[in-house]
Amino acid sequence: MSSTSSVIDLKSFSSQEIYSLFEKALDLKKVTPKDRLTHNHTAARGCVALLFFEPSTRTRFSFEVSCVRSGLHPLILSGSSGTSLEKDETPEDTIKNIEAMKPLFFIIRAPDSLDLNSIALDLNVPIINAGWGKKGHPTQALLDALTVFENWGSIENKNILFVGDIKHSRVVRSHQELSQVLKYNLGYSCPAYFLPEQLEKKSMYFSHLSEGLQWADVVVSLRVQKERHLDSAFDLADYVKSYGLNSSQLTALKSEGLILHPGPINYGVEMEKEVLSDSRSQVLKLVENGVYIRESIIQQTLKGIL
Ligand code: CP
Repeated sequence: MSSTSSVIDLKSFSSQEIYSLFEKALDLKKVTPKDRLTHNHTAARGCVALLFFEPSTRTRFSFEVSCVRSGLHPLILSGSSGTSLEKDETPEDTIKNIEAMKPLFFIIRAPDSLDLNSIALDLNVPIINAGWGKKGHPTQALLDALTVFENWGSIENKNILFVGDIKHSRVVRSHQELSQVLKYNLGYSCPAYFLPEQLEKKSMYFSHLSEGLQWADVVVSLRVQKERHLDSAFDLADYVKSYGLNSSQLTALKSEGLILHPGPINYGVEMEKEVLSDSRSQVLKLVENGVYIRESIIQQTLKGIL
C-alpha cells in the first residue's frame, strides 16, 4: 500500500504496513474519550464523503466516529432516500458530483454492480472500501485480525475457521487476501450449497462442525446472506441443527479459543444468543476495535494527502 493509495483490497499491503496499522490502532485505543475531550480541541479540518449505497450500522458509525476523532467532518449518504438516486441519477454520477465539492477522500459501501476499481481510477482522491458486495470488506478483516493479534500478540499460524455462508461472504474474501500476508490458516465449515466454486489449495474444509471447532483457534460465525442468494437450497431447520453455534457445539472449541461474528447476528440461525455470554466471545470487542483500525487507516490516508 502506498500512503497515497485507495484501500480497495488487502493484496497490495505488506505485513510491515499492516502491523504498523495495528500498532497505531492499539496506541489510539489507549486514549480515553475524556483524554480526547481535554487535549484535542480539533475543529473540522476538512470533509470526508461516506457513501453507503448498501445498509450498515457498525461500519458506518465506526467510520463516522473515526472521522470526528480525526478532526474531519463526515458527509453521509445512507441509502438512496432523499438523494437524487431516487431520481435515477447513477451512483457513478453521484460520486463524481460529490468529488466536485472536494472531500479529502471517499469511504464507500457498494453493491457488486458498482466497480470500485474503475471508480478509484477515475477519482483524484482515495477511496476506502467499506464493504463491496461479495467482493471484499478489508477493514472488517483487519479488525478481526487486530483482535486476534491483541489477544495473543500474534496471528501467524493461527487456525481461523469460518462457519456458514462462505459463498456470499465478502469478509471471507478479504481474509483470503490478509491470510496470505500475515500467514494464518483458513478453514471452512458449511453445507455444500454455501461452498464457493473453488477453495484455496491450503485451506481446510470440515463438513462436520465439531471437527472444525477442534481444529480452530478462532471461529468466525457468518450471517446467512439471504439478500444475496439466487436459489433457495437453504433449509433453516437443517442448517441450524448442523451449523448453528450454541453452547453445546462450542464445547469442542479450545478453552483459550476466540468466537467472532462480524454482525449483524441473526440469533437462532447462525448463532444462539447464549454464545454472546461465553467468555471466549469477542463480538463487541470487534466493534470497539473497528473504530481504532478505521481511525488508524484514516490517519494513514491523511498522511498520504498532506
Ligand atoms: N460487520 C459489518 O460490516 O456490519 P455493518 O453491515 O453493520 O456495517
